[in-house]
Amino acid sequence: MGKVKIGIIGTGSISNMHMAGYTRLENVEVVAACDINEERVKEFAKRYHIPNVFTDYNEMLKMKDLDAVSVTTWNNIHAPASIAALNAGKHVLCEKPLALNAKQAQEMVEASKKSGKLLMVGFCRRFGENAIALKEMIDNGDLGNLYYAKTGCLRRWGNPGGWFSDKKRSGGGPVIDLGVHMIDLIRYLSGKPKAVSVTASTFNSMGMRPEVKGIQKYNSADYSEFNDVEDCATSIIKFDNGMTLFFETSWVQNIKEDSLYLELFGDKAGAKMEPEFELYESRYNYLRNTKPILDPNGSGFEHNFIEETKHFISCITDGTKCINPAEDGLELMKIIDAIYQSAETGHEVIL
Ligand SMILES: NC(=O)c1ccc[n+]([C@@H]2O[C@H](COP(=O)([O-])OP(=O)(O)OC[C@H]3O[C@@H](n4cnc5c(N)ncnc54)[C@H](O)[C@@H]3O)[C@@H](O)[C@H]2O)c1
Repeated sequence: MGKVKIGIIGTGSISNMHMAGYTRLENVEVVAACDINEERVKEFAKRYHIPNVFTDYNEMLKMKDLDAVSVTTWNNIHAPASIAALNAGKHVLCEKPLALNAKQAQEMVEASKKSGKLLMVGFCRRFGENAIALKEMIDNGDLGNLYYAKTGCLRRWGNPGGWFSDKKRSGGGPVIDLGVHMIDLIRYLSGKPKAVSVTASTFNSMGMRPEVKGIQKYNSADYSEFNDVEDCATSIIKFDNGMTLFFETSWVQNIKEDSLYLELFGDKAGAKMEPEFELYESRYNYLRNTKPILDPNGSGFEHNFIEETKHFISCITDGTKCINPAEDGLELMKIIDAIYQSAETGHEVIL
């Protein structure tokens, strides 16, 4: 085939990361951009020399010379835009979370099957060298049987506001925004076990705290202080491979500093992937710690997006097996739904 013709739906912050990938690929041409914010999409199209500009993705999807789209909108538009694109015969790379909930995600998976077009979910962290290295070690049995994992992504003061903190448009707060990456990584690294039970609490006691002075935080492009989502959450998730995951996340919490951690424990070794890569085991009856040397730029934010878009394109052009199929996004949405359901009812949710 000739160049893969791409359209971007949603030209806010993260679409620039998709562009960082597409613009590096010689066999790709970004031919169209769409956003409901006309000024923003025009400015975006000018910056990247994109010839066709739309404010309605249904109009954009009528383009014959368009093979695939990136869906980089608010979360509530992921399902309708992806389904419309698949029905129009386009391949889709949809940002995480796949949808607002599992019901929508299921409809997206079905639309993909019906159309025969690829629906890939943007779990970009899977493309980090740290995740690739750890997966190889786990797949080769270096950790033995995995029985426990813990992961967290915590912010002291980091509610981005705007659509992020408006449940109708986001589906929730840090659980669906940050947690989706961390829980996905645990599933992906440990061989995609299915969750069998979820116990969770969410907390809404702090609010957005817009009055905080002295430090800067990331604010959504269309910032507002409306906030009806959780500040933080904690959860115990059990999987069908016998592994238990402890997970926590926050946008606003009285902690000393932000933190990101991910650890997996097996009966042969334990591994920490974040904040640094280390392995813990014993050899010849001595406890031993090792620290594989990884490319310091190999797991960065932009790097992961560059690799993600490259993979998306090679799935389209070479039939490469997609490592981020929509089904994985659906499994995550089942877990996210269960976290919110358990928090609301105060009971364990059996899946
Ligand atoms: N993979 C990651 O690490 C990562 C990081 C940040 C954001 N994201 C995801 O990317 C998505 C976008 O986040 P963002 O930070 O870029 O938000 P943003 O607010 O900066 O951009 C979203 C854009 O979508 C546009 N939009 C809304 N409805 C639309 C519609 N119907 N048609 C066309 N455009 C529409 C908005 O006008 C806005 O310009 C979210 O789903 C978010 O979860 C992923």
